Amino acid sequence: MTTYSETYEAWKADPESFWMEAAQAIDWDRPPTAALNADNAPMYEWFTDARVNTCWNAVDRHVEAGHGERLAIIHDSPITGTSSTMTYSELRDQTASLAGALVEQGIQSGDRVIIYMPMIPEALVAMLACARIGAIHSVVFGGFAANELATRIDDATPKAIIAASCGIEPGRVIAYKPLIDGAIELATHKPDTCIILQRDQQRADLTPGRDHDWHEVQQGVIPADCVPVAGDHPAYILYTSGTTGAPKGVVRPTAGHLVALNWTMKAIYDVNPGEVFWAASDVGWVVGHSYICYAPLIAGCTTMVFEGKPVGTPDAGTFWRVIQDHNVASLFTAPTAFRAIKREDPGGTMVADYDISSLRTLFLAGERADPDTIDWAKRTLKVPVIDHWWQTETGWAIAANPIGIEALPVKTGSPSVAMPGYDVQVLDDGGHPVAPGTLGAIAVKLPLPPGTLPTLWNADERFRKSYLDTFPGYYETGDAGYVDDDGYLYIMARTDDVINVAGHRLSTGAMEEVLASHPDVAECAVVGVADQLKGQLPVGFLCLNAGSTKTEAEVVGECVKLMRDKIGPVAAFKLALRVDRLPKTRSGKILRGIMANIADGTPYKQPATIDDPAILDEIKTALKRIGYPG
Ligand code: COA
Ligand code: AMP
Repeated sequence: MTTYSETYEAWKADPESFWMEAAQAIDWDRPPTAALNADNAPMYEWFTDARVNTCWNAVDRHVEAGHGERLAIIHDSPITGTSSTMTYSELRDQTASLAGALVEQGIQSGDRVIIYMPMIPEALVAMLACARIGAIHSVVFGGFAANELATRIDDATPKAIIAASCGIEPGRVIAYKPLIDGAIELATHKPDTCIILQRDQQRADLTPGRDHDWHEVQQGVIPADCVPVAGDHPAYILYTSGTTGAPKGVVRPTAGHLVALNWTMKAIYDVNPGEVFWAASDVGWVVGHSYICYAPLIAGCTTMVFEGKPVGTPDAGTFWRVIQDHNVASLFTAPTAFRAIKREDPGGTMVADYDISSLRTLFLAGERADPDTIDWAKRTLKVPVIDHWWQTETGWAIAANPIGIEALPVKTGSPSVAMPGYDVQVLDDGGHPVAPGTLGAIAVKLPLPPGTLPTLWNADERFRKSYLDTFPGYYETGDAGYVDDDGYLYIMARTDDVINVAGHRLSTGAMEEVLASHPDVAECAVVGVADQLKGQLPVGFLCLNAGSTKTEAEVVGECVKLMRDKIGPVAAFKLALRVDRLPKTRSGKILRGIMANIADGTPYKQPATIDDPAILDEIKTALKRIGYPG
């Protein structure tokens, strides 16, 4: 039996052999002759001389191996009261058919396709159809508004958009088509084609010449074969929040993605082909890309596509019902989902109504897992609860407890240890490693492992500036924390203006840009304050123009609406305050961290460079009006 330490050391001693061996589990059109390509260091690529197709590895090869009747996808949708299944054969046929339609619409390898779909099996079919022909998809989360979609259209310049007519949230149907039309109107780049899947809950009017019905466009087309692409061909672009309003287009390389994700399914998640894997997230996030769509299928598992919420669809027992009905072996979600369930059912009594004996492990990621939630989940489910830490940029876990290799002792509050491929270091401001127990910036020694981002879409310079320049030789994660004497990592905070709301990564900088566009707002700041359910919530501080005659309630109401229109409901922006001044340093830097400390009621040190300490009392008084610290 190999231990974690042996595996990690084997990787460290010979990364090239480690990844070449992992690569053997992939079905190559042309196998790689080398793993790492450092020609362009410090920007690295993996398996560049290979040729391979992602869809073949995720779908067709399982059919060829005789598993065509195995379930590939289970769709469970308490929000529509429906449930359905799709075998690997059916998934292959649907994917080949949609890919054929894309080819007929002029989409070729390397072209971009934006996908805007809710949690339905067709979202996976659309992603895989792109992969089948080497088109680069960019999935946009349904909770983003037209403006955010427009930004992504202009950056990715897609030839086509594939969308559903609507998404469904508790109590409301969200018509996607007006959002898409609005986004195309706003964008400078115009896609040639839109393929719309009509859902019964709200059908869309199609624009003649540009829009096509999902089924009609596939009629009579020749199903497309898998097109092998180079190992470093971008599999997809996924936009994520950075410091400014312009999202970062994280590029996922094809071959490294296949090799790394396949490796994780056994080593980290310990699931086997044919077992049911459920990532309760959304295809619009990286968790959805890696663990709803690609990894479970590459590994020959059955993936759950769940269209519902942990509570309210219809109650806090939904997750347990899904585990029971579909024999779920592994559940992966964000801690916020469990906080929501715990709030409705503190005693965890609803689990007794279901047989969840198929469940072996609960995995948590996406935000810090608080010890209370972990303990509650352990008590309620009576299975190991494994926290693991990763980011959109990496696509798979940087730190985890690799139970498929060796179940290490769990330390509550820590996502455990670095995975092979990641040499994680905690650095001081000067870039020097700090001693165990000392807080610092978390960085990963270059090169990052296969599957991680080689660059940002069309933005090599931004990639270098955002991730490589601060600590030469390292990738800067943007997280701060420490490592203990046993090598366990503790992730404590972001070092940038990114906040984490209900497991969703949001940019306070982007929100400030929206608030600043309000005609009455002279100056503003957005900070993330602690929230018992969502982890963090954004709060806006607004300084109004001298001539403004509006009341605080009027301006706040308008700003809340503006944020919903510009960024979308996912911003969860509902709290804002009028203040006369913002606390700043003498050089004009807004003291956002201290404002968050005041809201949270946590201690802070007043910087010597503060311009006017009296402003902090004004902030305190203003926050008290909305019940902070709560
Ligand atoms: N399309 C349109 N709107 C969406 C949406 C989507 N796909 N997803 C969320 N929204 C809307 C919500 O309806 C809500 O609108 P509201 O302000 O009108 O109520 C708003 O965006 C904020 O959403 P959210 O922050 O998710 O809050 P919520 O109250 O709807 O749900 C949780 C809270 C905790 C139940 C939910 O966030 C959850 O299940 N999270 C865990 C799983 C997860 O998604 N993890 C992500 C990465 S792993
Ligand atoms: P995203 O790119 O949306 O997946 O968000 C990544 C960020 O979420 C990380 O940089 C962390 O700040 C945070 N995060 C993700 N997983 C964890 C975890 N297990 N513990 C603490 N923070 C986490």
